[in-house]
Amino acid sequence: MRIGVLCSGGDAPGMNACLRAVVRSAISAGHDVIGLRHGYQGLSQEGLVNDSESAWTLDARSVAHIVQHGGTMLHSSRCQSFASQAGRERAAENLRRLGIDALIPIGGDGTLRGAAELAAIWTGQIIGCPATIDNDVIGTDFTIGFSTAVETAVNCIDKLRDTAESHQRLFLVEVMGRHSGYLALYTAVAAGAEVACVPEVPVDAKAIVELVSELKRRGKQSFIVVVSEGGEQGGAAALSRQLEQAGCEFPTRSVALGHIQRGGTPTPADRILGTQLGDFAVQSILDGATGMMAGQIDGELVLSPLARSIEEHKPLPNDLVELLRRMSC
Ligand code: F6P
Repeated sequence: MRIGVLCSGGDAPGMNACLRAVVRSAISAGHDVIGLRHGYQGLSQEGLVNDSESAWTLDARSVAHIVQHGGTMLHSSRCQSFASQAGRERAAENLRRLGIDALIPIGGDGTLRGAAELAAIWTGQIIGCPATIDNDVIGTDFTIGFSTAVETAVNCIDKLRDTAESHQRLFLVEVMGRHSGYLALYTAVAAGAEVACVPEVPVDAKAIVELVSELKRRGKQSFIVVVSEGGEQGGAAALSRQLEQAGCEFPTRSVALGHIQRGGTPTPADRILGTQLGDFAVQSILDGATGMMAGQIDGELVLSPLARSIEEHKPLPNDLVELLRRMSC
């Protein structure tokens, strides 16, 4: 069997571990793996050929020593053309021409949506692996890359807390997560931040200012608000202005962590999850599965329909929302 693998959408630390697992798991079972460069953009280009620039056979050694690296050795892309039927038809035609029997796309919700749409027009097997720092995909407790992004953001906030405390300031720290507050919430709890503003909950600048005043009276010397980039308040800089206008008692500063969160050495948790899901995707293909996403729920490796994983964003865990509130006293 010939298995194609690609990474698409925003990169996530641990994608390389997943890719390595796909290659080695397939080779261990006597199958071939074709690495497809530049995600769906590469796959849907006119007349894709089998060469080292676009699509080439990966052997066990070609994925040596990548488990420890962020990014993806296959390169990724945001692909407009794959949103069109014509783009997907070209991709299906390329897969047929390259003799690929099964495809493992590694990426976030856009990648999984693309996989579900491709499955409707291509007869090969497809098993997606969820990799995004947003952790917004249903069908897995955690996505590949989330653990590393949280660790990166927490490390940054630990540094910011030092200066916030010295100057008795309020810092607004903007993290990624366009439609999902997972990254903001986990980061806030782990960093000991006072508030997380997430896209799922309307932001009340006046309530934050009242909390700041109350906690100042109780002796707080600094304040950290973690803000999701996708929030309706328009990000950390805009919320900073709103807090000042509402009479915030601490001087404010805002910092957007941006793409720093997407890079860097993957945590062991992301390397292990990437390895498990990549291996599980291959085993699932060999078992005859298709149209599914590989995930891990309560420690068990599970398959869920691709269509389900993209129908909505994973809801925030309420217990963690409450936990953060209780810690800010
Ligand atoms: O989907 C992952 C993500 O990192 C989001 O959190 C963020 O909004 C987006 O990608 C940024 O995308 P780009 O790198 O294309 O600007």
